[in-house]
Amino acid sequence: MSTQRAIRQAGECRTTKAFGCSEGVATRSNRAERNFIFTYNITLYSVPIPPEANTPGGIWEDFIVNIITKLALAAGLATALSSGALAQDVSGKVIGFSQIGSESGWRAAETSVTRQQAEERGVDLKFADAQQKQENQIKAIRGFIAQGVDAILVAPVVATGWEDVLSEAKEAEIPVVLLDRGIDAPEDLYLTSVASDQVLEGRVAGQWLVDEVAGEDCNVVELQGTVGSSPAINRKQGFEEAIADASNVTIAQSQTGDFTRSKGKEVMEAFLKSSNGGADICAVYAHNDDMAVGAIQAIKDAGLAPGEDILVVSIDAVPDIFTAIAAGEANATVELTPNMAGPAFDALGAYWADGTMPEKFIITESKLYTAADDPQGEYERRKDLGY
Ligand code: AHR
Repeated sequence: MSTQRAIRQAGECRTTKAFGCSEGVATRSNRAERNFIFTYNITLYSVPIPPEANTPGGIWEDFIVNIITKLALAAGLATALSSGALAQDVSGKVIGFSQIGSESGWRAAETSVTRQQAEERGVDLKFADAQQKQENQIKAIRGFIAQGVDAILVAPVVATGWEDVLSEAKEAEIPVVLLDRGIDAPEDLYLTSVASDQVLEGRVAGQWLVDEVAGEDCNVVELQGTVGSSPAINRKQGFEEAIADASNVTIAQSQTGDFTRSKGKEVMEAFLKSSNGGADICAVYAHNDDMAVGAIQAIKDAGLAPGEDILVVSIDAVPDIFTAIAAGEANATVELTPNMAGPAFDALGAYWADGTMPEKFIITESKLYTAADDPQGEYERRKDLGY
């Protein structure tokens, strides 16, 4: 990757709000490989070292300082353009985070990134793992209220049933920020929601399939996310919208795989059995990559070639799906950034600084990746980020 490319990427990641690129941190260097390898917030870069920098007493230090300065400038400019403000101060605040659990690689990354963002910003993060149960989330939120935290982050496992507990938080004047999933509740019960446009994610996946099969008949099996969760509802809707005008593409079977690899595999095995050993299936659409990875294993076990005999399209862009894409065993994924906490902390900081009300919905980017998008490189860029 060229230096310019690295700087351009840093700028991009800031403008999309996908990553909070507030500082550059050199993690390691490898002069033998003639590359400078570093993370810029949570993105890994590898930049070729110019020969003149790689000599004893040469301009090595200048090279490092130069690159970090350029990244900081790129990030600062992009930040100014996108939000009109630098990262907001939340240091010293106590913030509760009710996380759903650890059902997927993406969820693990979101937890790591949230902890990392909290540490970098001097936030005392109180973490509660709900192990996939809404009742545990409600208990945790009540606990945070009783402790008198400054704010609460919640990734809501399902969309309904939040009004009472969020009204209690409102009553206690504790701002709540929703992360990565939406809820069916009055909007005044939370300060903002940081999430992707999940209908769009489904549409992007569906449009990719419509284009890929180019008019050929295609029976799709769908692995849905957790029943009643906003991504399961919205990703289904978006996909159906995308294929609505393509009479050749039909959803033949659809069932929940609960966003987990093991359930994805189990449900795919049942789909294969009831579809002539898989001969009647053209594609699998999984609401997340973990279920797709489980489905890929089931397809292989059935003696078929995933990615060829059965197309695989999913959502998240976790490292394992890039390995599968690089091997030709998966075809496409739609990226969901694990950095929901960065924009959440920024919104809270601005709110506390001068009462600035954030946008009600802070929407992250939904980018499509296929085999044409350097899957091995994308794997390398993500593999150390907590997935
Ligand atoms: O809400 C986001 C979804 O939840 C991710 O796509 C999935 O992997 C996770 O479990």
